[in-house]
Amino acid sequence: MELETLILAAGKGTRMKSKLPKVLHKVGGKPMVEYVIEAAKKIGSTREVMVIGSGAELVEKTISGVEFVLQEEQLGTGHAVLTAKKKFAESKGTVLILCGDTPLLTSELLKEFTDAHEKSNCAATVLTAEMPDAAGYGRVIREDNGSFKKIVEDKDANEDEKKIREVNAGVYCFDVQKLFGALEKIGNENSQGEYYLPDVLPILKEAGEKIGAFKAEYCIETIGINNRIQLAAADKALRMRKEVALMESGVTIIDPNTTFIDGDVQIGQDTIIYPNTYIEGNTIIGEDCEIGPNVRFTDMRVGNKVKAQFSYCHEAEILDGVTMGPYVHIRPGTTIGENVKIGNFVEVKNSNVGEGSKLPHLQYIGDTDIGSGVNIGCGTVTCNYDGKKKFRTTIEDNAFIGCNTNLVAPVTVKEGAYVAAGSTITKDVPKDNLAIARARQVNVDVWNDKRK
Ligand code: UD1
Ligand code: CA
Repeated sequence: MELETLILAAGKGTRMKSKLPKVLHKVGGKPMVEYVIEAAKKIGSTREVMVIGSGAELVEKTISGVEFVLQEEQLGTGHAVLTAKKKFAESKGTVLILCGDTPLLTSELLKEFTDAHEKSNCAATVLTAEMPDAAGYGRVIREDNGSFKKIVEDKDANEDEKKIREVNAGVYCFDVQKLFGALEKIGNENSQGEYYLPDVLPILKEAGEKIGAFKAEYCIETIGINNRIQLAAADKALRMRKEVALMESGVTIIDPNTTFIDGDVQIGQDTIIYPNTYIEGNTIIGEDCEIGPNVRFTDMRVGNKVKAQFSYCHEAEILDGVTMGPYVHIRPGTTIGENVKIGNFVEVKNSNVGEGSKLPHLQYIGDTDIGSGVNIGCGTVTCNYDGKKKFRTTIEDNAFIGCNTNLVAPVTVKEGAYVAAGSTITKDVPKDNLAIARARQVNVDVWNDKRK
């Protein structure tokens, strides 16, 4: 079966009250329209065309893998489809039409829906759902025998029609040539003065075509996002879906209500996620980890058996067996080696820390390469910035940096070397040497203490 997809995403989303085009608002960590595109691709759509208009430039920059059509003026969903007519001039078979604002649609439902359409001899099938609160949606009007009659928009519905809870989900399958053949016949005589796509359905019907109305089992999948309240509800539903999938695959989530995991995150078996934890973007976490409470990981690569609490880590890599926190900040470009220990109030930026090294408390490590088995004393600072440029610090294997040391880059502490506490190191320290760079202590025995 030949299946192409048309996604409507030109609307401004007036009810969002936002400067950002509606379809770029994020749910579950990514723009809502991406879910729709992914679902279409997953069921074997061969091509996705997206109608854009409001904020078109930004949408084009943000979204990839689709063809764009510009709808300069947003005159309604029917007009939006008509704008894309040329793109389908050569098409045969079925076009699946989706709205960019229904991110909870699953590929399973879409598959069921398109299969049902293919098996029928309908010229068009519309996806419907029974909503607990149908306000804002187009209502499905059926004939006395239960077959499809038409759709009435919320704003055009009379009191009786408003009571109907079966709604148009904004998802359709059309015989592509029949769609474009009939589309130009729709008018805009309605309360919004818009060309409504659903109006093409009764037109096809009157021309003798069969129209199907396929009701989804779960209405949650078909919710459309028009305002920020629906945005929050969709976000919550998507996250819960993600957490359920993770729990089913063997991840423990202590409190799903206070855990926020983006859709593309991967987590290995027997990892435990403690409350108040945010795992975002393209983060991948291995097996047997203990993450949280109060951790935020964004675009992180995390190995196995890692323990992290009360920390923020982004665009960095943490290898197996690392223990860290509380209050650690790992910044972009950092790799923390196996079995490293990072304690409280430590910041590491654009650095490499070798296997088994220890950064137990109060350090700033920036633009630094630390070897393995290194011990960094409390309060050590790498002075990586001279006000104009950044320089690197190197601390080789098994070196020992005493407490409250400043390492003024560029500088190298060679293998096995020691730095005495309180030193400000500006010159390289040779292998196995002890560097002391502080004033000698003077004890004054005869001095007149005026307090006495
Ligand atoms: C639409 C349906 C309604 C259905 C609901 C499901 C129409 C007339 N109404 O209403 O029956 O219950 O979706 O969620 O179709 N768009 C364009 N160009 C336009 C107008 C809209 O591309 O000129 C896009 C929007 O960006 C959006 C989608 O079409 O992604 C739906 O538009 P929206 O204004 O949200 O329609 P609803 O009022 O929700
Ligand atoms: Ca909508």
